[in-house]
Amino acid sequence: MTTHHDIAGRTGHESAGGSAVAMAQLLELDAEVLAPYLAELTGWLAELASPAPVRILDLGSGPGTGSLALAHRFGSAAVTAVDISPQMLHRLRKQAAAHGVADRITTLESDLDEHWTRIGEGGPYDLIWAAAFLHHLADPARTLAQVYEHMRPGGILAVTEMDFFPRFLPEDTGTGRPGPEARLHAATNTQPPHGWTDPLNDAGFTIEVQRPFEICLDRTEAGPALSDYAQMCLAKLRSHATDALDADDLAAWDVLLDPTHPQSVARRDDLRVRTTRTTWIARRP
Ligand SMILES: C[S@@+](CC[C@H](N)C(=O)[O-])C[C@H]1O[C@@H](n2cnc3c(N)ncnc32)[C@H](O)[C@@H]1O
Repeated sequence: MTTHHDIAGRTGHESAGGSAVAMAQLLELDAEVLAPYLAELTGWLAELASPAPVRILDLGSGPGTGSLALAHRFGSAAVTAVDISPQMLHRLRKQAAAHGVADRITTLESDLDEHWTRIGEGGPYDLIWAAAFLHHLADPARTLAQVYEHMRPGGILAVTEMDFFPRFLPEDTGTGRPGPEARLHAATNTQPPHGWTDPLNDAGFTIEVQRPFEICLDRTEAGPALSDYAQMCLAKLRSHATDALDADDLAAWDVLLDPTHPQSVARRDDLRVRTTRTTWIARRP
């Protein structure tokens, strides 16, 4: 199992109900902690998408952090959120109601690897958003062809991927040898970052820009959810590294992930989230 680049691990077809809830929680924490980045990204989209989009499609929406951000950014837009997981969509509807945008967000449970039928009914779309999603597809080229078909000419597709899993700890944690997080990442990251330039070109889109977002937020900038987010991310990585770490590192992680320990991730005040996300902006000519 690889954990590279994907905050939610392998989801979609592999999601069971319970794990979908845990993934949804992780994605919601991700959006809460990285809110400054999400605001920058949607603000940038507002500059690129003119006139302001009125029909938006969120592919692989998960619990809807993207749908909500887009509904807030584009106040007169209708958002169609599509996901294969009913648990994710249930969560999304609850969040949409809590945020007062339920009347502008429609959820569709659908396998985006299949031929689109109902999805087309909300289009043609002005803006299509696919965050941490395309790499889940069995046949991304087939899906990108459908994205193209259901987008209005001049509309834009924003594809975002996580380049590497977030990091949180200082080099010296005060527990075990320096560098436990780097070794944890080395043990679990086995694949290069996802790249979408060629598939987007092949589908007929014009790539306007490929933009990396370098994110580095301290506790004040990231807000109170940082500890929970770090704990959840690092526990997830650690759960995949048992066979790859030596005894010293396994002991250090026992301390770092024990919320009752004074040096644990849950209690430290020196966490900083560092991660990189890349967004491709592709326009239908
Ligand atoms: C890593 S999550 C990303 C969720 C959301 N876009 C975000 O950024 O928080 C990937 C999502 O894609 C969904 N998914 C995976 N394969 C799918 C498929 N074939 N059709 C529709 N949704 C799929 C999963 O259920 C999951 O909610």
